[in-house]
Amino acid sequence: MRKKVVAGNWKCNTTLQEGVELAVAVNSIVAEKGAKDVVVVLGTPFTHITKVFESVDNSRIGVSAQNCAAEAKGAFTGEVSAAMVKSTGAGYVILGHSERREYYGETSAILNKKVALALENDLTPIFCCGEPLEIREAGSQKAYVIQQLEETIFQLSESDFKKIIVAYEPIWAIGTGKTATTEQAQEMHKDIREAMAAKFGADVAAEISILYGGSCNPKNAAELFANPDVDGGLIGGASLKAEDFIQIINAY
Ligand code: 13P
Repeated sequence: MRKKVVAGNWKCNTTLQEGVELAVAVNSIVAEKGAKDVVVVLGTPFTHITKVFESVDNSRIGVSAQNCAAEAKGAFTGEVSAAMVKSTGAGYVILGHSERREYYGETSAILNKKVALALENDLTPIFCCGEPLEIREAGSQKAYVIQQLEETIFQLSESDFKKIIVAYEPIWAIGTGKTATTEQAQEMHKDIREAMAAKFGADVAAEISILYGGSCNPKNAAELFANPDVDGGLIGGASLKAEDFIQIINAY
């Protein structure tokens, strides 16, 4: 059975103190009323990971970086390697987010190096894909997203591919308040799973969690998560409020 996952992506928000406060709040409500069969992950800024990791029940809440370097180590001022992320206690790393692709020029070639290093260091990549508005309007979203996957994680060996969590995040839905409809989400998730099945076989495809991201909130999460191929969410804005985040966690 594939896992249900609700991961917060805090992006470039919260000071260390605010982040720890948020993590402590999430930790206590997850302990009190969090659905036990949902894997909860907090994607914090690098600076917060260690403290957040120490502030939460590690058997209930995983911690994720939002990026890692494309190089293992060396003279790369300002970069944070996958090994460094791992050494903080984090178990996950978000890779290929559209904001990284768009604002920081992350290409498929760069992402392949990052994914390889994440896997070498025993981090679970939460690998993002998703189309911009013009591609959706042209009706070519399926081809666009499948190509993103073919250029990246579909190149992995089957054993490595099985370690990936995929997040489908239509760019037009990120931070816009405009969520994909439940039909649009299911259709793309099904297309992604079918492409995985064609590449790695139906048994492998059935085990991969595919999360939806893009203006997911306490009001729409239940409807989105009710889709057979939607295995949870990657949550931006709504993960910054513990009460909203727990409602999403419990939306199954
Ligand atoms: P929002 O939930 O704020 O739309 O962000 C989604 C996202 O980009 C998560 O990675």
